[in-house]
Amino acid sequence: MRIFHTIAEIREFVRQARVKGHSIGLVPTMGYLHEGHLELMRQAKKQCDTVIVSIFVNPTQFGPGEDLASYPRDLDRDAAMAEGVGVDAIFNPVAEEIYPSGYSTYVDVERITEKLCGAFRPGHFRGVATVVAKLFNIVKTDYAFFGQKDAQQVLVIKRMAADLNMEVEVITVPTVREHDGLAMSSRNVYLDPEQRQAALCLSSSLNRAAAEVGAGERNAAKIRQLVIDLIKDEPLAGIDYVEIYSYPDLEPVELIKGSALLALAVKIGRARLIDNIIL
Ligand code: PAJ
Repeated sequence: MRIFHTIAEIREFVRQARVKGHSIGLVPTMGYLHEGHLELMRQAKKQCDTVIVSIFVNPTQFGPGEDLASYPRDLDRDAAMAEGVGVDAIFNPVAEEIYPSGYSTYVDVERITEKLCGAFRPGHFRGVATVVAKLFNIVKTDYAFFGQKDAQQVLVIKRMAADLNMEVEVITVPTVREHDGLAMSSRNVYLDPEQRQAALCLSSSLNRAAAEVGAGERNAAKIRQLVIDLIKDEPLAGIDYVEIYSYPDLEPVELIKGSALLALAVKIGRARLIDNIIL
């Protein structure tokens, strides 16, 4: 497995793969890899001849007071894990490589970024869309793999790719969870043992909601309130949002018919955790 830090090097690597007739798969990440990331890489390996993983803690998607400086980083560990699932190359640029001085261009996806995490993290999806657009242009990938764990993010990337006529197929991979249901996240390292236990309220309340829908409940407001009440029972948890929208359009819903996204963001200690389920 090769590790590149510059755009010129990764472009040359891609050029050589293309000469061999290889299809290219890209897995964008911010590193501190876990099983969720590895699952994206395994899917990419199944579908593509050459798989590239980007590891870049993207400063433009963090707001003031968020965890940019303390976001966990460990390239050696990440490289060993990626190599273990057969990744062909890591692209790990420094911030100045991606945003050199004078940098002025951003991608703004409208409407679907106004709700859920977009409402609580102003500018977040502008930073995500911008860096992913740049990665798509740098790697010129055929396929790009994203996790359903960040349900709104995948929708934003799909919208961007369609709107800007990018020749990349965006593939969604289901959320990977710990044995007890907690969605895997690089930010789970922020949780102490007590908070780790409290964090189970995210997945358990989503499962309760799914069970209610399975039992015939269709009233979105009732299901939303049930989830809010369950999370409020956990003293260490503070709700950012609990919302139900039609999926994938993210329109308001009163009655659940067809697919609906139940998504939540909850703060536990210094960790802001998100999770979701399709009802
Ligand atoms: P990061 O949080 O590192 O996640 C990288 C990819 O892994 C995303 O597509 C995310 O949805 C996926 N992922 C994370 N946890 C997962 C889990 N438990 N199961 C399945 N997939 C999971 O998301 C980002 O980085 C950044 O915003 C990025 C897209 C790289 C742009 O900077």
